[in-house]
Amino acid sequence: MSAPVILAIAGSPRRQGNSETLLDAALFAMTAAAPVTVHKLVVPELHILPCRACDACRSGRCVQRDDMDRLYPLLEAVDGLLVASPVFFMGLPAQLKAVIDRGQLFWNRGPQASLPLRRPGAFIAVGATRGSKLFVGSVQTIRCWFDALGVTYHRELKVRGVDARGAILGEAQALADAQALGRDLAAALGAATG
Ligand SMILES: Cc1cc2nc3c(=O)[nH]c(=O)nc-3n(C[C@H](O)[C@H](O)[C@H](O)COP(=O)(O)O)c2cc1C
Repeated sequence: MSAPVILAIAGSPRRQGNSETLLDAALFAMTAAAPVTVHKLVVPELHILPCRACDACRSGRCVQRDDMDRLYPLLEAVDGLLVASPVFFMGLPAQLKAVIDRGQLFWNRGPQASLPLRRPGAFIAVGATRGSKLFVGSVQTIRCWFDALGVTYHRELKVRGVDARGAILGEAQALADAQALGRDLAAALGAATG
């Protein structure tokens, strides 16, 4: 049997930033724990236009031609999803939000009839401040997107108080938590794909 496939999405416009470092720690632990094939996509390296709300995707295909052409089939085919992002103004970076909004194609399909169900997903989020509501907006958006994709919101890691690039390297607990998330997602992938 072939290894389960996970799509890992680095959502920050800052390369090798705090959220991508946590993502890489999770992926390292995941692939050490179990045979998993990883597709890692870095959102700022993609050309993704914002949704136009034209509703053309009700017919099954988006009218815009960009890197969503290769992302749509991946989102449909993979066995699991791992997204990492910073908090930007209590939400998600615009580049990642554009990817999410283009998921309107899946939303318009209705109750995810054609997508593999029970695919596990996880979300890693980083913010500079420490307020209790820091992650409310981004988590709600990711949960809503996962619903449209037929992905279960299996696990999350939320790290507060991290701002400058590389600051996460001084957060041993957060790095260990990311590795634990990676191992847990590997186990969930194994269970989901049988
Ligand atoms: C445009 C912008 C908006 C931000 N908004 C918030 C915010 O609302 N709350 C917060 O705690 N941090 C905010 N931050 C800080 C980032 O979340 C923080 O620097 C994070 O560690 C960046 O992660 P990254 O290195 O993965 O990009 C913002 C940063 C930028 C550049």
